[in-house]
Amino acid sequence: MFDYIFFDLDGTLTRSGDGIKKSAAHAIAQVGYPALPDARLDAFVGPPLLESFMRFCGMDEATALRAVQLYRARFEDVGWRENAVYPGIAQLLRALRAAGKYAAIVTAKPERFAVRIAEYFGLAPYLDAVVGIPMNEHHADKAALIARALPAGADKARVVMVGDRKFDVLGAKDAGVSSLAVGYGYGTREELDACAPDFFAETVDDLFPLLGVERPRGRFFTFEGNDGCGKSTQMALIGDWLAERGWEIVRTREPGGCPVAERIRALVLADAADREARAMTAECEALLFAASRAQHVHDVILPALEAGKIVLCDRFLDSSIVYQGYGRELGEDFIRQINVPAQKARPDKTFLYEIDEGAALRRATRDGHADRIEAEGVAYQRLVREAYASLRAKEPERIQVVDGSGTIEEVFARTQRAVADCLNTKE
Ligand code: TYD
Repeated sequence: MFDYIFFDLDGTLTRSGDGIKKSAAHAIAQVGYPALPDARLDAFVGPPLLESFMRFCGMDEATALRAVQLYRARFEDVGWRENAVYPGIAQLLRALRAAGKYAAIVTAKPERFAVRIAEYFGLAPYLDAVVGIPMNEHHADKAALIARALPAGADKARVVMVGDRKFDVLGAKDAGVSSLAVGYGYGTREELDACAPDFFAETVDDLFPLLGVERPRGRFFTFEGNDGCGKSTQMALIGDWLAERGWEIVRTREPGGCPVAERIRALVLADAADREARAMTAECEALLFAASRAQHVHDVILPALEAGKIVLCDRFLDSSIVYQGYGRELGEDFIRQINVPAQKARPDKTFLYEIDEGAALRRATRDGHADRIEAEGVAYQRLVREAYASLRAKEPERIQVVDGSGTIEEVFARTQRAVADCLNTKE
C-alpha cells in the first residue's frame, strides 16, 4: 500500500549508538561537564544534538553549540564507522528495490554524514535519496525534512516514515504521511506508544509484510579451491563484512556443518597417521562426504535459504567432484549420482581461489600436520587444480575465479568486489 518508504537512519537502519554515544561522551568531557552513565547516553541517539546537550547535561546554548562542534569532529573522524546495519536490513532494501518502491533516508543527521554512511555500508545502491540537514544547522524539523524528501507529485497517502523515536512519528504526523515505529531501535516502548504511530514493527522481520514485500529467497555462495588456497580466511572476512552491512548470513563448512556431519568429518578427515582410517576405499570416502552433505543440506543450508539468509559455505559438491571424482578417479557421474540429496541446494555463485598448488600445500601443512587428503602430496593437488579448471570451463557463470595470490588484504579486496557484484545484480 506504500510506494514511498522513508527511513530514519540511526536506530532504524543502523545500530549507530556506539559511535554516537562515544562522540557525545567525548564532547561532554571536552567542555568540562560531568560524565553521564551509559544508559543516559542512549537518549542522544536520534534527536537533534543541541537540544540533547542542553536537556540532558544542563548546558547553556553557547556551551551546547561548542559540544556539537566537538561531537562532530570526533564523529567525522571515527564515530561514523562505529556502526553496523541491523541484520536483515540489506535484504529488506533489496526487496523494496525489486518491488519498484521508492526508498529514502530522512535523518536529523548532517546529510554529508548520512551519505557517507549509506555508501560505506553498502546501502546507497538501494536508495533513491538521502535527506538530512546542512552541516551548519542545528535544529532538524523532521516534518520539513519529510516534505523535502517527497518527490514532486507523490501522493502523501502512499508515503510512510519508518523510525525508532517519537520525532519520526510526530514528524510524519505533521507532514501528513503515515508513521511506522520500530521497536528494535533506541526509542522506548512508552515513548513510542505515547505518540500513537499508525503501525508498529517489533523486529526487522515484521517490516516486510507491513511494507508489502516478501522476504527474498536466500543466496547460496560456496568457496572452493586447493588445500591452503586461503578460501577459509577469505570466507571469514567476507562474512564479517556482509554482517556489518545488514545481511543476515549463515556460515558453514564441509565436511561437517551440523552435529551428525561433524562426526562424519572426524572419520573422513582422520589424521594421516590413523592406520585404520587409511584403509578407507575411495568409494567409501566419496559416500561419507555425500552422507555428510545430505545431512548438512537438510539441517542447515535449506532452512537458512528458506528464511532468506545468505549462506556462505566453505566447500560443497564441487569439492567432491574434484577430489573424489577426478582425484580418486571415481568419475563425475558417480559423484553426482550419490549426491542427489545435495542437489536441492545449488550454489548461486562459487568463488574459486586460484593459487600455485605447491605454495598452497606448503601453507596448508606448515604446522607439520597433514590430514589424509593433504598427505597425498603435490601431484594430487595439481590434479585437483586441473579438475577445478575444467569444472569452471563447464559452468563459467556460476564459478568465478578469484586470484588467490598476494596478501590477505589484496585477496580480500578481490573477494569484496566479486561478492558485491553478485549481490547487486538482479536475481
Ligand atoms: P579442511 O580441513 O576443511 O581444509 P580446507 O581449508 O582445505 O578446506 O579439509 C577439507 C578437506 O576435505 C580438503 O582436503 C578437501 C577434502 N574434501 C574432499 O575431498 N571432498 C569433499 O567433498 C569435501 C567437502 C572436502
